[in-house]
Amino acid sequence: MNNKGRVILRCEDLRKSFGQTKAVDGCSLEVYEGTITSIIGTNGAGKTTLFNLITGLIPADSGKIYYMDREITDLCKSGKSYTLAQLGIAQSFQLTRGFGDMPILESLMVPPPLANDNSLTSMLQLLLPGRKETSLWDREKKANEMLRELGLEEKKAEKLRDQDIGTQKLVELGQIFLLSPTIFLLDEPLAGVSMNKAPLLLNYIKGLKKKGKTILMIEHKMDPVLSISDIIHVLVNGTLLASGTPEEIRKNQKVMEAYLGGESC
Ligand SMILES: Nc1ncnc2c1ncn2[C@@H]1O[C@H](COP(=O)(O)OP(=O)(O)O)[C@@H](O)[C@H]1O
Ligand SMILES: [Mg+2]
Repeated sequence: MNNKGRVILRCEDLRKSFGQTKAVDGCSLEVYEGTITSIIGTNGAGKTTLFNLITGLIPADSGKIYYMDREITDLCKSGKSYTLAQLGIAQSFQLTRGFGDMPILESLMVPPPLANDNSLTSMLQLLLPGRKETSLWDREKKANEMLRELGLEEKKAEKLRDQDIGTQKLVELGQIFLLSPTIFLLDEPLAGVSMNKAPLLLNYIKGLKKKGKTILMIEHKMDPVLSISDIIHVLVNGTLLASGTPEEIRKNQKVMEAYLGGESC
């Protein structure tokens, strides 16, 4: 395990039930620095619940969460997602939550909406002293640089809500990047994205890895997961059925049976 590098995020025996349903049933995993780690699984496997436990959207029944060497379980339980963002953990959502009425440039000048607290006060926490770039001029400069990087310079004055989902998701990734996180938690980054926009997003995610960022993502579509992940965890009924490289997952009989068993991933 040591040759895989530093552990950025670690979940230990996480559990969450909704009534009789054990949505996450003893899940332990590690995310290594500088990797793209994916969680896949059939519908109802517990992927979203697992993510929501990590980001504090819902409290775990039991288990522990560590960010590097720091236990953050209670921080997650308290639902202070701006604190998580300040620590270096940032999240994108399956459904984009951007500020639709804003022009794209301006939407890159504000922090992205948070997991469980969209209040202005919480968002302002991410803009206050302690963060490096607080002046409006600085923020605009960085937003313009980001626009160039995303290839969206020509659309800077257009409203976010008028864009296709792929473009909205790209802007959301840019917003998150500007928070300077260590780890990106991406919930189905390709959901609703058209075939011609998907490669742009995948390239951007690969680019994040090249910049030394760590990515943990849930993804519904198997092919992109196999093509960009370093490590894949397969979740079935709230527990991990298998973990390994794309090659190992592709060859895993149990995984293939789980998928061929019916539901789509
Ligand atoms: N808020 C909730 N209340 C009741 N049951 C839930 C809730 N959220 C998820 N579940 C149930 O927990 C299980 C796992 O769901 P989920 O984490 O959404 O799976 P996935 O994201 O892999 O499709 C499912 O059986 C689902 O119906
Ligand atoms: Mg889900």
